[in-house]
Amino acid sequence: MKIVLLGPPGAGKGTQAQRLQESFGLKHLSTGDMLRAEVASSSPIGTQAKAIMERGELVPDQILIDMIAEPTKQPDAARGILLDGFPRTVAQAEALDRMLAGRGQKLDRVIQLVVDNDAMVERIAGRYACAKCAAGYHDTNRKPKTAGVCDSCGGSQFVRRPDDKPETARTRLEAYDRQTAPLLPYYKSRGVLSEVDGMAAIDEVTRRIGTLLKAA
Ligand code: AP5
Repeated sequence: MKIVLLGPPGAGKGTQAQRLQESFGLKHLSTGDMLRAEVASSSPIGTQAKAIMERGELVPDQILIDMIAEPTKQPDAARGILLDGFPRTVAQAEALDRMLAGRGQKLDRVIQLVVDNDAMVERIAGRYACAKCAAGYHDTNRKPKTAGVCDSCGGSQFVRRPDDKPETARTRLEAYDRQTAPLLPYYKSRGVLSEVDGMAAIDEVTRRIGTLLKAA
């Protein structure tokens, strides 16, 4: 099964991908996480991507196309892949179609998380994570049970993404509207697009996506 999760920053792609990879045995590939690992290791790609990501803009297409090629053909991707954050432009979508077709494969479903953009700034700007185990929290929606202590590992250090500042979140949302939203008609015309209300409760969103994947 080859699945794409599509939606603006903060729509819940990462949250849902974490849950779905376990229940459906899919390999979760987040290009945002892959790029952040490149930045953390100060690799040539990371060095090039760092400033672009901090401005909230998109990293050049060819870097992402090359980055996704290898992990999608590894043995652990045989049962299926769940793409989170890729493709993000029509050029990336076309490259993905060519890549899969070259392996005799195709996308089974593209799930669009439909959300209210104004609410996304609040979701993103309030988000933080445990520095030790990466468990996710939010200033108002999901606080640790004991203030300042991670529920999962007991850690007491927390981090925020440098691109989660409100002004950068707005630039990221604009980039989505301008460069990624054109993927909606692209996938609709291919008959693989399904909409899910991303403003519903997290469990309910998981349930609705699960129903679509079972039918895929
Ligand atoms: P990336 O890491 O992909 O970030 P993003 O798309 O901006 O998405 P986010 O991770 O912010 O949000 P999400 O949809 O995963 O939501 P989450 O589940 O975390 O990309 C970062 C950057 O890398 C890009 O800006 C770009 O520069 C570069 N990049 C990456 N891929 C690229 C590509 N293909 N091409 C070019 N450049 C690329 O949820 C957010 C918050 O909301 C959390 O606190 C969560 O708990 C909460 N939440 C989730 N669902 C719900 C719900 N239903 N109700 C209430 N709260 C919810």
